[in-house]
Amino acid sequence: MKKQERDFDKEAATWDDHPARVKLAEDVAGAIIRQVALTPDMEVLDFGCGTGLLALRIAPLVKSVTGADSSRGMLKVLEAKAAKQGLSNISTRHLDAGSRISGAYDLIVSSMTFHHVEHVGVLLGELFQALKVPGCLCVADLDSDGGRFHEDNGGVFHFGFGKSALGEMFRQAGFAKVRKVPAAKVDKPDRTGKLRKFSIFLMIGEKSEKN
Ligand SMILES: C[S@@+](CC[C@H](N)C(=O)[O-])C[C@H]1O[C@@H](n2cnc3c(N)ncnc32)[C@H](O)[C@@H]1O
Repeated sequence: MKKQERDFDKEAATWDDHPARVKLAEDVAGAIIRQVALTPDMEVLDFGCGTGLLALRIAPLVKSVTGADSSRGMLKVLEAKAAKQGLSNISTRHLDAGSRISGAYDLIVSSMTFHHVEHVGVLLGELFQALKVPGCLCVADLDSDGGRFHEDNGGVFHFGFGKSALGEMFRQAGFAKVRKVPAAKVDKPDRTGKLRKFSIFLMIGEKSEKN
């Protein structure tokens, strides 16, 4: 499915200039806050954090947020925004393609990044390992979009995710109490100019002693 790499470094400076993108992140943050009891002692990882649209909303509610991303350009923008907002509990981590995800987090969040990851099953295994017990993973991404969401499908490995496929992958990685809730809706023209509705889900899985 992937045609070519997408240059997120190049897009970083103007990433936040799209109101629909900012609203989507707000809606995803709202869905996470409704599903997970965020507490001031929590250490959180935002995988594929981009410019921190989600990380910056969560940071005031928890102990720390690590924003991890393969784009140094995105991380620089996040660092500048965190400094400007006086948020000292945000750190960044650059991930090379294929880097392993280590750490010990209470919560891992990810928004609109999984469709850019080829081997989602492998990633889920790594995220599971990087969680404490108890720990929780929240992944927001597109419901199946038939390849219509992006103007250019370069760097897109999955045209959204079907009803149960991702949930099954969560379970295979070891997650329990896997559930999916609606998180956001985006109305936007596809590349033919036709206005379309896209829906974004939030999939939640827990790592518990019984897993
Ligand atoms: C569509 S953007 C979403 C950014 C942010 N979560 C948001 O909602 O605005 C996808 C992000 O994932 C990052 N990314 C893509 N593949 C990645 C990978 N394998 N590991 C880490 N980050 C990745 C990109 O650099 C980009 O910042």
